Amino acid sequence: METRLLDANLPEDVAAVAAVLRDGGIAALPTETVYGLAGNALDPDVVAAIYAAKGRPSDNPLIVHIASADDLPRIAREVPPAATALAERFWPGPLTVVLPRQPVIPDRVTAGLDTVAVRVPAHDAFRAVLRAAGVPLAAPSANRAGSPSPTTAQHVVHDLAGRIPAVLDGGPCDVGVESTVVDLTSTPPRLLRPGGVSLEQLREVLGDVGVDPAVVGEMAADQTPGAPGMKYRHYAPAAPVVVVDGTAAEAAAYVRAQGLEHPAVLCFDEEAGAFAGFEVVAYGSEDDPRSLARGLFDALRALDRPEVSRIFARCPAEDDGLSQAVRNRLLKAAAFRVVRADAPAGT
Ligand code: TXA
Ligand code: MG
Repeated sequence: METRLLDANLPEDVAAVAAVLRDGGIAALPTETVYGLAGNALDPDVVAAIYAAKGRPSDNPLIVHIASADDLPRIAREVPPAATALAERFWPGPLTVVLPRQPVIPDRVTAGLDTVAVRVPAHDAFRAVLRAAGVPLAAPSANRAGSPSPTTAQHVVHDLAGRIPAVLDGGPCDVGVESTVVDLTSTPPRLLRPGGVSLEQLREVLGDVGVDPAVVGEMAADQTPGAPGMKYRHYAPAAPVVVVDGTAAEAAAYVRAQGLEHPAVLCFDEEAGAFAGFEVVAYGSEDDPRSLARGLFDALRALDRPEVSRIFARCPAEDDGLSQAVRNRLLKAAAFRVVRADAPAGT
């Protein structure tokens, strides 16, 4: 199959993608978070094609994208006041809510769960396609399962060329990490995945919000994360990733002390100089979590090369906002391996 690269700024290209989706096809589209691989959420065969193109395990459910909160009752059989309040404040935008599903949503979308994840995306092109296609769109991130999520059309082409008919190129994504997922079927509501809307912002609207253990640590074999996708190895380049805490100078000494051939460093813009002599990819400013979120997946992809032996990553403290999402994605890429640079090598 040839994969057509279309332009999100051309109305005829947006219309062409909407036609593909209306006719039961699938296509990759930009959202404000990451690129999504979209198809008619109401058609089980289309949903099966999405899973097949990504190589995604069938027990990991998809998010359903709708044009407006007014469409929520078609997807969710209960719309509690909490959902309405979140929709008013954060939609369109990078927030996904988990609610009891309507029977019209196929089992394949929800992986057999009685709940469905829904969001109203903010990207103009995605919204135009949603309106023109006239159906809710299931859309996981448009990467091969296990890879970092795609934040440019080129990332999608790298992962899915030959496997999907079209990619709509809308340039780099604004947020750069996936949407926040919050489960509104539990009391109190529970954060399942940190993302573009912060935990503090959720608490401003909802009051008490719990945090699923899978957000902050590795799950034991007998534990089940609230979001099935959180249990999978994710975002990981070929080389092992290790998060190195401590000052930049301590971290540089730590990397040197490992005596590895071709180590690489993923660091903040401000500290690139401290790692002179190593291969360095800076992914954003430590003082600007938005820039870190925007640059993270592209940087992880840039370091996904066979000659790189290990990736030493600098990770923001989990104070607030987008830092929590960036830290969560990096810890997952590192399989939760964190070392303190001032500790003796090998610990
Ligand atoms: O920003 C985003 O959310 C992007 C764009 C394309 O919208 N989409 C995205 O989808 O990140 P995906 O499939 O890569 O991640 C969806 C996450 C997975 O961790 C999945 O397990 C969880 O949402 N999820 C989906 N339905 C769920 C449900 N009913 N209950 C709990 N978690 C659910
Ligand atoms: Mg994904």
